[in-house]
Amino acid sequence: MEKNVPKKILITGGAGFIGSHVVRRFVAKYSNYKICNLDALTYAGNLENLKDIEQEPNYTFVKGDITEQDFVNNLFAQNLFDGVIHLAAESHVDRSITDPLSFVKTNVLGTVNLLNASLELAKSNPNFLFYHISTDEVYGSLGKDGFFTEKTAYNPNSPYSASKASSDHFVRAYGETYGLPYIISNCSNNYGPNQFPEKLIPLFINNIIQNKPLPVYGDGNYTRDWLYVKDHARAIDLIFHKGQKRETYNVGGFNEWKNIELTKLLCRLMDKKLDREEGTSEKLITFVKDRPGHDLRYAIDASKINQELGWEPSVTFEEGLKKTIYWYFDNQEWLNHVTSGDYLEYYKKQYQA
Ligand code: NAD
Ligand code: DAU
Repeated sequence: MEKNVPKKILITGGAGFIGSHVVRRFVAKYSNYKICNLDALTYAGNLENLKDIEQEPNYTFVKGDITEQDFVNNLFAQNLFDGVIHLAAESHVDRSITDPLSFVKTNVLGTVNLLNASLELAKSNPNFLFYHISTDEVYGSLGKDGFFTEKTAYNPNSPYSASKASSDHFVRAYGETYGLPYIISNCSNNYGPNQFPEKLIPLFINNIIQNKPLPVYGDGNYTRDWLYVKDHARAIDLIFHKGQKRETYNVGGFNEWKNIELTKLLCRLMDKKLDREEGTSEKLITFVKDRPGHDLRYAIDASKINQELGWEPSVTFEEGLKKTIYWYFDNQEWLNHVTSGDYLEYYKKQYQA
């Protein structure tokens, strides 16, 4: 890319959890870029996540749906982006079990619309890059040992992970078939500020604050690898700027926790924060019916991004959890806002059984 020409970057899903951290980082760090945030503002997207940067001169927001082909084509034709960082998605596994089609629409069809529009721009811009933010869930489940590497075969088990695997395949296929320059990264479980309280950590923080049960699926012996969201945003920045085109990078926290152990740690930290007697929050733990097709264990081997790009997580889990807990305490209004509306209906249905 020519020097001093402002980079026009489209970030999709920038009003969501990870996207908002990526948008904020790029807007703050790259004043010479033009950052366009495209988001449909579904239940998971919230412009309050970006209140602090909405007036910045290098930032614009466009409300729109990536499943609408004409809208996407027009947006690309009008803006001539140099690159796309694609995060917009339906992201919650439980929702994918009750409504798989929404996941096919947004995650597969929406991604293919963006790929088609990108192809047009890549024809006249050899530096164009399509960067797809994906998940470790595409690899399926590990047993007690081993790690996912970039060479692990895809073996998705949930409608969510099947839709993300499919979108990854389309991205790669557009690279092979049409020569579209792309990068994919597959990351482990993120946590931190602004995460919608349907995912394990913010749901349990919210429930402890409200003295509600903590629904642990099955026996709680399922393992996830947790990464603080700002470390993921840092990885995305690095991969976008320094990653090799047509490559895949695994991003993870080297930080495996069984759900039940993580829940107990969270309970202890929350008891301290709430000045409650130790053990109070643990009494809220309730074992509930398991998630169908529940993957036993995820663990990322992040040595490629570490060795090639020098990335490693910078926030320890205890530090990150404390920051997260404090953020939810300081942002009760945000919590109240996002948990009104369809959220309550969803949870009534989810936990009826
Ligand atoms: P999120 O659900 O918090 O945010 C998704 C965003 O996409 C929301 O702002 C939503 O409004 C927007 N969106 C949804 N459908 C859209 C559509 N049709 N058109 C335009 N915008 C739409 O998700 P997240 O947790 O921030 O995840 C972001 C991306 O990272 C996803 O692609 C997800 O698969 C991937 N990922 C997430 C994690 C994680 O732990 N959360 C880990 C690895 C990868
Ligand atoms: O691994 C990356 C993925 O992590 C991302 O691609 C997804 O977008 C993201 O949602 C996340 O998926 P998980 O299914 O792992 O996250 P979730 O927070 O839903 O669940 C984490 C673990 O906790 C999982 O084993 C299921 C369990 N769980 C979850 C909830 C919401 C419970 O036991 N009880 C719950 O109420």
